[in-house]
Amino acid sequence: MISACVKADNLRYLYQARCILASKHPTHINKDLSWWQDEAIRRKLSDHYNGFLSVSLLRTSWLVVLLLLAACSQSSTDPSALPTTVDYNWHIKPVLSDRCYKCHGPDVQVRKAELRLDTQAGAYGVSRDDSTQRIIEPGNAAASLLVEHISSEDPQRRMPPPESNLSLTTREIALIKRWIDQGADWKPHWAFTPPTRPTLPEVRNEHWARGPIDYFILDGIESAGLNPSEEADRTKLLRRVTFDLTGLPPTPTELTAFLNDTREDAYERLVEELLARPTYGERMTSMWLDIARYADTHGYQDDRPRTMWPWRDWVVRAFNENLPYDDFVIWQIAGDLLPDATFEQRLATGFNRNHAITQEGGDSLPFMQVQISKI
Ligand code: HEC
Repeated sequence: MISACVKADNLRYLYQARCILASKHPTHINKDLSWWQDEAIRRKLSDHYNGFLSVSLLRTSWLVVLLLLAACSQSSTDPSALPTTVDYNWHIKPVLSDRCYKCHGPDVQVRKAELRLDTQAGAYGVSRDDSTQRIIEPGNAAASLLVEHISSEDPQRRMPPPESNLSLTTREIALIKRWIDQGADWKPHWAFTPPTRPTLPEVRNEHWARGPIDYFILDGIESAGLNPSEEADRTKLLRRVTFDLTGLPPTPTELTAFLNDTREDAYERLVEELLARPTYGERMTSMWLDIARYADTHGYQDDRPRTMWPWRDWVVRAFNENLPYDDFVIWQIAGDLLPDATFEQRLATGFNRNHAITQEGGDSLPFMQVQISKI
Protein backbone atom coordinates (compact mmCIF):
# COMPACT_ATOMS: atom_id res chain seq x y z
CA MET A 1 0.00 0.00 0.00
CA ILE A 2 2.77 2.35 0.90
CA SER A 3 4.66 1.69 -2.27
CA ALA A 4 1.52 2.15 -4.28
CA CYS A 5 1.00 5.52 -2.70
CA VAL A 6 4.49 6.86 -2.85
CA LYS A 7 5.68 7.53 -6.34
CA ALA A 8 9.09 9.04 -6.52
CA ASP A 9 12.10 8.56 -8.71
CA ASN A 10 14.34 8.14 -5.73
CA LEU A 11 16.86 5.94 -7.35
CA ARG A 12 17.60 8.72 -9.79
CA TYR A 13 18.44 10.96 -6.88
CA LEU A 14 20.46 8.30 -5.19
CA TYR A 15 22.29 7.81 -8.43
CA GLN A 16 22.88 11.53 -8.68
CA ALA A 17 24.16 11.51 -5.11
CA ARG A 18 26.62 8.86 -6.19
CA CYS A 19 27.72 10.94 -9.16
CA ILE A 20 28.15 14.03 -7.02
CA LEU A 21 30.27 12.09 -4.58
CA ALA A 22 32.20 10.60 -7.47
CA SER A 23 32.92 14.02 -8.93
CA LYS A 24 34.12 15.23 -5.53
CA HIS A 25 36.30 12.22 -5.00
CA PRO A 26 37.07 10.97 -8.49
CA THR A 27 39.96 8.84 -7.36
CA HIS A 28 37.61 6.75 -5.31
CA ILE A 29 35.37 5.76 -8.17
CA ASN A 30 34.65 2.09 -7.92
CA LYS A 31 35.19 0.81 -11.43
CA ASP A 32 32.88 -2.11 -10.87
CA LEU A 33 30.03 0.27 -10.48
CA SER A 34 30.71 2.50 -13.47
CA TRP A 35 27.95 0.76 -15.39
CA TRP A 36 25.60 2.75 -13.23
CA GLN A 37 26.42 5.67 -15.38
CA ASP A 38 24.67 4.15 -18.31
CA GLU A 39 21.55 6.18 -18.76
CA ALA A 40 19.30 3.35 -19.94
CA ILE A 41 20.18 1.03 -17.10
CA ARG A 42 19.75 3.79 -14.59
CA ARG A 43 16.31 4.55 -15.87
CA LYS A 44 15.24 0.94 -15.85
CA LEU A 45 16.36 0.62 -12.27
CA SER A 46 14.70 3.87 -11.42
CA ASP A 47 11.41 2.62 -12.85
CA HIS A 48 11.79 -0.63 -11.07
CA TYR A 49 12.51 0.80 -7.68
CA ASN A 50 10.09 3.65 -8.06
CA GLY A 51 8.24 4.02 -4.83
CA PHE A 52 10.05 1.29 -2.97
CA LEU A 53 13.12 3.13 -1.86
CA SER A 54 11.12 6.09 -0.82
CA VAL A 55 9.84 4.25 2.19
CA SER A 56 12.15 4.76 5.07
CA LEU A 57 12.20 1.94 7.53
CA LEU A 58 14.03 3.64 10.34
CA ARG A 59 12.35 4.51 13.59
CA THR A 60 12.37 8.22 13.04
CA SER A 61 10.46 7.82 9.83
CA TRP A 62 7.43 6.04 11.21
CA LEU A 63 5.87 9.43 11.59
CA VAL A 64 6.20 9.95 7.85
CA VAL A 65 4.80 6.50 7.16
CA LEU A 66 1.83 7.17 9.38
CA LEU A 67 1.19 10.48 7.69
CA LEU A 68 1.39 8.80 4.32
CA LEU A 69 -1.02 6.13 5.42
CA ALA A 70 -3.38 8.75 6.69
CA ALA A 71 -3.16 10.68 3.46
CA CYS A 72 -3.52 7.53 1.39
CA SER A 73 -6.54 6.33 3.24
CA GLN A 74 -7.98 9.77 2.98
CA SER A 75 -7.65 9.91 -0.76
CA SER A 76 -8.77 6.35 -1.37
CA THR A 77 -11.85 6.32 0.78
CA ASP A 78 -13.90 8.67 -1.33
CA PRO A 79 -12.57 8.73 -4.86
CA SER A 80 -14.96 11.40 -6.02
CA ALA A 81 -13.86 13.94 -3.42
CA LEU A 82 -11.07 16.11 -4.77
CA PRO A 83 -8.55 17.63 -2.41
CA THR A 84 -8.98 21.34 -1.76
CA THR A 85 -5.44 22.02 -2.87
CA VAL A 86 -4.01 19.78 -5.54
CA ASP A 87 -0.33 19.10 -5.03
CA TYR A 88 1.97 18.44 -7.96
CA ASN A 89 4.23 15.92 -6.25
CA TRP A 90 1.50 14.13 -4.43
CA HIS A 91 -1.38 14.05 -6.91
CA ILE A 92 -0.12 14.94 -10.37
CA LYS A 93 3.40 13.71 -10.94
CA PRO A 94 2.60 10.06 -10.13
CA VAL A 95 -0.16 10.12 -12.76
CA LEU A 96 1.97 11.77 -15.44
CA SER A 97 4.82 9.44 -14.59
CA ASP A 98 2.64 6.34 -14.86
CA ARG A 99 0.61 7.26 -17.89
CA CYS A 100 2.57 9.83 -19.93
CA TYR A 101 6.34 9.56 -19.43
CA LYS A 102 6.43 6.40 -21.51
CA CYS A 103 6.01 8.63 -24.57
CA HIS A 104 6.64 12.11 -23.17
CA GLY A 105 9.42 11.41 -20.73
CA PRO A 106 13.21 11.63 -20.57
CA ASP A 107 13.90 8.93 -23.16
CA VAL A 108 14.48 10.77 -26.42
CA GLN A 109 14.41 7.52 -28.40
CA VAL A 110 10.75 6.85 -27.70
CA ARG A 111 9.53 10.40 -27.16
CA LYS A 112 6.40 11.34 -29.12
CA ALA A 113 5.41 14.71 -30.54
CA GLU A 114 8.71 16.14 -29.17
CA LEU A 115 6.79 16.67 -25.96
CA ARG A 116 8.30 16.25 -22.50
CA LEU A 117 6.00 16.23 -19.52
CA ASP A 118 8.67 15.36 -16.98
CA THR A 119 10.22 18.83 -17.14
CA GLN A 120 8.65 22.13 -16.31
CA ALA A 121 9.94 23.66 -19.56
CA GLY A 122 8.29 20.91 -21.57
CA ALA A 123 4.98 20.92 -19.75
CA TYR A 124 4.73 24.73 -19.84
CA GLY A 125 5.94 24.89 -23.43
CA VAL A 126 3.97 25.27 -26.62
CA SER A 127 2.61 22.75 -29.09
CA ARG A 128 5.07 21.76 -31.77
CA ASP A 129 2.29 22.33 -34.35
CA ASP A 130 1.01 25.66 -33.08
CA SER A 131 3.26 27.96 -31.10
CA THR A 132 0.31 29.97 -29.78
CA GLN A 133 -1.04 26.89 -28.03
CA ARG A 134 0.44 26.13 -24.63
CA ILE A 135 0.58 22.57 -23.37
CA ILE A 136 -0.29 23.76 -19.85
CA GLU A 137 -1.65 27.27 -19.35
CA PRO A 138 -1.26 27.84 -15.60
CA GLY A 139 -4.55 29.00 -14.11
CA ASN A 140 -6.57 28.01 -17.14
CA ALA A 141 -7.30 24.33 -17.68
CA ALA A 142 -9.75 25.06 -20.49
CA ALA A 143 -7.03 26.77 -22.52
CA SER A 144 -4.45 24.01 -21.98
CA LEU A 145 -3.75 21.66 -24.87
CA LEU A 146 -2.97 18.87 -22.41
CA VAL A 147 -6.48 19.05 -20.97
CA GLU A 148 -8.01 19.02 -24.41
CA HIS A 149 -6.09 15.84 -25.22
CA ILE A 150 -6.86 14.00 -22.00
CA SER A 151 -10.58 14.86 -22.22
CA SER A 152 -11.00 14.29 -25.95
CA GLU A 153 -13.61 11.76 -27.11
CA ASP A 154 -11.77 11.47 -30.43
CA PRO A 155 -9.56 8.35 -30.26
CA GLN A 156 -7.09 10.06 -32.63
CA ARG A 157 -6.56 12.86 -30.11
CA ARG A 158 -7.22 11.10 -26.85
CA MET A 159 -4.24 10.89 -24.47
CA PRO A 160 -2.97 8.44 -23.53
CA PRO A 161 -3.71 6.85 -26.92
CA PRO A 162 -6.27 4.05 -26.44
CA GLU A 163 -3.99 1.49 -28.14
CA SER A 164 -1.37 2.07 -25.44
CA ASN A 165 -3.72 0.38 -22.96
CA LEU A 166 -3.05 3.26 -20.62
CA SER A 167 -5.90 5.47 -19.51
CA LEU A 168 -6.79 8.14 -17.01
CA THR A 169 -9.68 7.82 -14.59
CA THR A 170 -12.32 10.53 -14.40
CA ARG A 171 -10.90 11.51 -11.04
CA GLU A 172 -7.37 11.83 -12.38
CA ILE A 173 -8.60 14.04 -15.20
CA ALA A 174 -10.49 16.17 -12.68
CA LEU A 175 -7.37 16.39 -10.51
CA ILE A 176 -5.20 17.56 -13.40
CA LYS A 177 -7.79 20.18 -14.37
CA ARG A 178 -8.06 21.47 -10.84
CA TRP A 179 -4.30 21.57 -10.46
CA ILE A 180 -3.99 23.67 -13.63
CA ASP A 181 -6.88 25.94 -12.61
CA GLN A 182 -5.16 26.44 -9.27
CA GLY A 183 -2.06 27.73 -11.04
CA ALA A 184 -0.26 24.48 -12.01
CA ASP A 185 2.33 24.97 -9.31
CA TRP A 186 5.35 22.91 -10.35
CA LYS A 187 7.46 21.67 -7.46
CA PRO A 188 10.92 20.15 -7.25
CA HIS A 189 11.28 16.59 -6.10
CA TRP A 190 9.90 16.38 -2.58
CA ALA A 191 13.24 15.18 -1.26
CA PHE A 192 14.65 18.65 -1.97
CA THR A 193 11.82 20.55 -0.34
CA PRO A 194 12.47 21.25 3.34
CA PRO A 195 9.65 19.72 5.35
CA THR A 196 7.24 22.08 7.02
CA ARG A 197 5.00 21.13 9.88
CA PRO A 198 1.46 20.80 8.55
CA THR A 199 -1.41 22.38 10.43
CA LEU A 200 -3.58 19.86 12.22
CA PRO A 201 -6.78 18.98 10.41
CA GLU A 202 -10.00 19.90 12.14
CA VAL A 203 -11.67 16.87 13.65
CA ARG A 204 -14.96 16.39 15.44
CA ASN A 205 -13.94 13.79 18.00
CA GLU A 206 -10.97 15.79 19.30
CA HIS A 207 -10.68 14.08 22.66
CA TRP A 208 -9.91 10.78 20.88
CA ALA A 209 -6.57 12.13 19.67
CA ARG A 210 -3.68 11.60 22.06
CA GLY A 211 -1.08 13.24 19.87
CA PRO A 212 -0.83 15.26 16.65
CA ILE A 213 -0.52 12.20 14.38
CA ASP A 214 -3.88 10.97 15.65
CA TYR A 215 -5.49 14.08 14.17
CA PHE A 216 -4.49 12.98 10.69
CA ILE A 217 -5.68 9.44 11.27
CA LEU A 218 -8.94 10.64 12.77
CA ASP A 219 -9.43 13.06 9.92
CA GLY A 220 -9.16 10.13 7.50
CA ILE A 221 -11.60 8.08 9.54
CA GLU A 222 -14.09 10.91 9.87
CA SER A 223 -13.97 11.94 6.24
CA ALA A 224 -14.82 8.34 5.37
CA GLY A 225 -17.87 8.64 7.65
CA LEU A 226 -16.48 6.10 10.10
CA ASN A 227 -15.82 6.06 13.82
CA PRO A 228 -12.62 4.84 15.48
CA SER A 229 -12.79 1.27 16.76
CA GLU A 230 -12.78 0.55 20.44
CA GLU A 231 -9.27 0.37 21.88
CA ALA A 232 -7.95 -3.20 21.68
CA ASP A 233 -7.55 -5.06 24.95
CA ARG A 234 -4.06 -5.37 26.38
CA THR A 235 -3.50 -8.90 25.15
CA LYS A 236 -4.21 -7.88 21.57
CA LEU A 237 -2.19 -4.72 21.92
CA LEU A 238 0.84 -6.64 23.12
CA ARG A 239 0.51 -9.20 20.35
CA ARG A 240 0.21 -6.54 17.66
CA VAL A 241 3.06 -4.36 18.78
CA THR A 242 5.37 -7.33 19.37
CA PHE A 243 4.67 -8.68 15.90
CA ASP A 244 5.15 -5.20 14.44
CA LEU A 245 8.48 -4.54 16.06
CA THR A 246 10.06 -7.98 16.31
CA GLY A 247 8.20 -10.12 13.79
CA LEU A 248 7.35 -12.66 16.49
CA PRO A 249 4.46 -13.10 18.91
CA PRO A 250 5.00 -12.36 22.61
CA THR A 251 5.84 -15.27 24.91
CA PRO A 252 3.37 -16.26 27.66
CA THR A 253 5.80 -14.84 30.22
CA GLU A 254 5.87 -11.50 28.40
CA LEU A 255 2.09 -11.51 28.27
CA THR A 256 1.77 -12.09 32.00
CA ALA A 257 4.36 -9.40 32.72
CA PHE A 258 2.53 -6.86 30.56
CA LEU A 259 -0.89 -7.70 32.00
CA ASN A 260 0.52 -7.26 35.49
CA ASP A 261 2.25 -3.99 34.70
CA THR A 262 -0.16 -1.43 36.06
CA ARG A 263 2.13 1.57 35.63
CA GLU A 264 0.65 4.49 33.75
CA ASP A 265 3.27 4.29 31.01
CA ALA A 266 3.43 0.50 30.75
CA TYR A 267 2.76 0.55 27.01
CA GLU A 268 5.40 3.21 26.30
CA ARG A 269 7.93 1.21 28.32
CA LEU A 270 7.00 -1.90 26.37
CA VAL A 271 7.57 -0.15 23.04
CA GLU A 272 10.94 1.17 24.19
CA GLU A 273 11.92 -2.27 25.33
CA LEU A 274 10.89 -3.86 22.03
CA LEU A 275 12.77 -1.21 20.04
CA ALA A 276 15.88 -1.93 22.09
CA ARG A 277 15.83 -5.65 21.27
CA PRO A 278 18.19 -6.98 18.59
CA THR A 279 15.15 -8.60 16.99
CA TYR A 280 13.86 -5.13 16.15
CA GLY A 281 16.75 -4.64 13.70
CA GLU A 282 16.23 -8.11 12.28
CA ARG A 283 12.56 -7.45 11.70
CA MET A 284 13.24 -4.17 9.87
CA THR A 285 16.04 -5.80 7.94
CA SER A 286 13.83 -8.56 6.62
CA MET A 287 11.73 -5.91 4.85
CA TRP A 288 14.71 -3.98 3.55
CA LEU A 289 16.30 -7.18 2.29
CA ASP A 290 13.17 -8.03 0.34
CA ILE A 291 13.07 -4.75 -1.51
CA ALA A 292 16.83 -4.68 -1.95
CA ARG A 293 16.61 -8.16 -3.56
CA TYR A 294 18.90 -9.89 -1.09
CA ALA A 295 19.98 -13.41 -1.99
CA ASP A 296 22.63 -15.82 -0.78
CA THR A 297 23.17 -17.17 -4.28
CA HIS A 298 24.12 -15.52 -7.56
CA GLY A 299 21.06 -16.40 -9.65
CA TYR A 300 21.17 -17.43 -13.29
CA GLN A 301 21.77 -21.02 -14.31
CA ASP A 302 24.55 -21.86 -11.83
CA ASP A 303 23.00 -20.09 -8.89
CA ARG A 304 26.11 -20.63 -6.81
CA PRO A 305 26.35 -19.43 -3.22
CA ARG A 306 27.72 -15.99 -2.51
CA THR A 307 28.74 -14.27 0.68
CA MET A 308 26.18 -11.54 1.16
CA TRP A 309 25.46 -12.08 4.83
CA PRO A 310 28.08 -9.57 6.06
CA TRP A 311 26.03 -6.89 4.26
CA ARG A 312 22.83 -8.32 5.75
CA ASP A 313 24.34 -8.11 9.22
CA TRP A 314 25.40 -4.54 8.51
CA VAL A 315 21.75 -3.70 7.77
CA VAL A 316 20.70 -5.28 11.08
CA ARG A 317 23.31 -3.20 12.91
CA ALA A 318 22.26 -0.05 11.06
CA PHE A 319 18.67 -0.46 12.22
CA ASN A 320 19.62 -1.39 15.75
CA GLU A 321 21.98 1.57 16.06
CA ASN A 322 19.33 3.79 14.48
CA LEU A 323 21.69 5.04 11.78
CA PRO A 324 20.17 8.24 10.34
CA TYR A 325 18.28 7.60 7.13
CA ASP A 326 20.49 9.77 4.91
CA ASP A 327 23.58 7.87 6.05
CA PHE A 328 21.72 4.59 5.68
CA VAL A 329 21.02 5.39 2.04
CA ILE A 330 24.26 7.16 1.10
CA TRP A 331 26.46 4.46 2.58
CA GLN A 332 24.63 1.76 0.68
CA ILE A 333 24.73 3.57 -2.62
CA ALA A 334 28.15 5.14 -2.35
CA GLY A 335 29.80 4.45 1.01
CA ASP A 336 33.03 3.56 -0.79
CA LEU A 337 33.19 7.07 -2.27
CA LEU A 338 33.09 8.87 1.05
CA PRO A 339 36.40 10.39 2.13
CA ASP A 340 38.38 7.96 4.27
CA ALA A 341 35.58 5.46 3.95
CA THR A 342 35.38 3.17 6.93
CA PHE A 343 35.04 -0.57 6.67
CA GLU A 344 31.35 -0.29 7.58
CA GLN A 345 30.76 2.33 4.89
CA ARG A 346 32.34 0.10 2.26
CA LEU A 347 30.49 -2.92 3.54
CA ALA A 348 27.20 -1.04 3.14
CA THR A 349 27.78 -0.84 -0.63
CA GLY A 350 27.09 -4.57 -0.73
CA PHE A 351 23.64 -3.23 -1.58
CA ASN A 352 24.90 -2.72 -5.12
CA ARG A 353 25.80 -6.40 -5.35
CA ASN A 354 22.36 -7.79 -4.73
CA HIS A 355 21.63 -8.26 -8.40
CA ALA A 356 21.98 -11.54 -10.25
CA ILE A 357 25.58 -12.16 -11.30
CA THR A 358 26.84 -14.52 -13.99
CA GLN A 359 30.25 -16.09 -13.77
CA GLU A 360 30.83 -15.97 -17.50
CA GLY A 361 33.92 -14.19 -18.75
CA GLY A 362 32.40 -10.84 -19.62
CA ASP A 363 28.98 -9.72 -20.74
CA SER A 364 28.12 -7.03 -23.21
CA LEU A 365 26.17 -3.94 -22.17
CA PRO A 366 23.15 -4.86 -24.34
CA PHE A 367 23.03 -8.22 -22.57
CA MET A 368 22.99 -6.50 -19.21
CA GLN A 369 20.29 -4.12 -20.37
CA VAL A 370 18.09 -7.02 -21.37
CA GLN A 371 18.69 -8.73 -18.04
CA ILE A 372 17.83 -5.60 -16.12
CA SER A 373 14.71 -5.01 -18.17
CA LYS A 374 13.54 -8.40 -16.92
CA ILE A 375 13.85 -7.51 -13.23
C1 HEC B 1 1.88 5.47 -26.07
C2 HEC B 1 2.41 6.78 -26.30
C3 HEC B 1 1.75 7.96 -25.63
C4 HEC B 1 1.38 8.10 -24.33
C5 HEC B 1 1.45 7.09 -23.21
C6 HEC B 1 0.90 9.46 -24.20
N1 HEC B 1 1.00 10.11 -25.38
FE1 HEC B 1 0.61 12.08 -25.75
N2 HEC B 1 1.13 11.84 -27.67
C7 HEC B 1 1.50 10.67 -28.28
C8 HEC B 1 1.63 10.86 -29.70
C9 HEC B 1 2.01 9.80 -30.73
C10 HEC B 1 1.32 12.21 -29.95
C11 HEC B 1 1.25 12.91 -31.29
C12 HEC B 1 -0.15 12.74 -31.79
C13 HEC B 1 -0.35 13.40 -33.13
O1 HEC B 1 0.50 14.19 -33.54
O2 HEC B 1 -1.38 13.11 -33.73
C14 HEC B 1 1.01 12.81 -28.65
C15 HEC B 1 0.67 14.13 -28.47
C16 HEC B 1 0.32 14.69 -27.26
C17 HEC B 1 0.01 16.07 -27.08
C18 HEC B 1 0.00 17.15 -28.14
C19 HEC B 1 1.38 17.74 -28.30
C20 HEC B 1 1.44 18.84 -29.32
O3 HEC B 1 2.51 19.49 -29.40
O4 HEC B 1 0.47 19.10 -30.03
C21 HEC B 1 -0.27 16.26 -25.76
C22 HEC B 1 -0.64 17.54 -25.05
C23 HEC B 1 -0.13 14.95 -25.13
N3 HEC B 1 0.26 14.03 -26.07
C24 HEC B 1 -0.35 14.73 -23.78
C25 HEC B 1 -0.27 13.47 -23.21
C26 HEC B 1 -0.56 13.22 -21.83
C27 HEC B 1 -1.00 14.29 -20.81
C28 HEC B 1 -0.35 11.90 -21.60
C29 HEC B 1 -0.57 11.14 -20.33
C30 HEC B 1 -1.82 11.33 -19.64
C31 HEC B 1 0.07 11.33 -22.86
N4 HEC B 1 0.12 12.29 -23.80
C32 HEC B 1 0.42 9.99 -23.01
C33 HEC B 1 1.76 9.48 -27.63
C34 HEC B 1 1.52 9.23 -26.30
